[in-house]
Amino acid sequence: MEYTFIIYEKSEGVATLTLNRPEALNAFSKDVVKEALDALEDAKMDDSVRVVVLTGAGEKAFSAGADIKTMKGTNALKARELSLMGESLCLAIENHPKPVIAAINGYALGGGLEVSMACDFRIASETARVGQTEINIGLIPGWGGTQRLTRLIGMTKAKELIFTGKIIEAKTAEQLGILNMVVPAGDFKAAVRQFALDLAGKAPVALRVAKALMNKGAEISLDAALALEREGFGIVSSTEDLQEGVNAFTEKRKPTFKGQ
Ligand code: CAA
Repeated sequence: MEYTFIIYEKSEGVATLTLNRPEALNAFSKDVVKEALDALEDAKMDDSVRVVVLTGAGEKAFSAGADIKTMKGTNALKARELSLMGESLCLAIENHPKPVIAAINGYALGGGLEVSMACDFRIASETARVGQTEINIGLIPGWGGTQRLTRLIGMTKAKELIFTGKIIEAKTAEQLGILNMVVPAGDFKAAVRQFALDLAGKAPVALRVAKALMNKGAEISLDAALALEREGFGIVSSTEDLQEGVNAFTEKRKPTFKGQ
């Protein structure tokens, strides 16, 4: 598929999906979401891809959220469709078999922050700013923000952010637990690349099973989650990659994992 609203590149096991509407601060239109879903599917099916990086074009924004201009004269049905559209993108990321890193290069607001929260990691430039700003236009987060932000940082601070709609600095977001890491602007791209390459070198099946167990386990009872973990542990233990890891350990060398 030819892409117009995203840039999709692959190298050294890392697929990079860049939201490409810098003139609108990479706001998500239907076309952006459609193309992003297609690229995520490609990354899922391509065995050479081990890690996905999601970022925004330009210096200013990761994404300023859903396209506000399409909300003029909206109605309940259209808004429900918009919510479903964002949800489908967030779920495609959350249920993706490979780790997905949000590389937050600028504003991550509204739906932009929500999409990043569906990712497994959020690495931000120190110039980034984040917020659930929907309340400022008389709206609420509709792409999982009321749920994922609360799960990520707890009710107290999630309510503060969602009710006030304030935009906070990257360092503050890191302290709240929204971000994994904040990097000086000049080091940002290299730091994201290194983080992605390190993950690309890990055992793919173990990563896939750990991701699924952690995401699903957070929604069910501990007893049921532990039963799932036991089964997952069994499956991962049957991989060639485990034997490679054990051999590499005893032979004091770096393992080469194949995803088998
Ligand atoms: N949708 C559509 N266009 C957007 C946009 C958005 N979410 N955010 C910014 N833009 C556009 C602006 O309209 C502007 O375009 P024009 O030049 O054609 O007017 C361009 O991007 C640059 O933006 P600004 O001129 O506003 O840039 P700024 O530096 O003055 O301000 C900003 C930056 C603080 C991020 C400001 O643009 C802003 O507040 N944007 C809206 C952020 C927001 O509220 N997002 C939530 C959207 S609702 C949502 O996401 C619902 C949900 O849960 C799914």
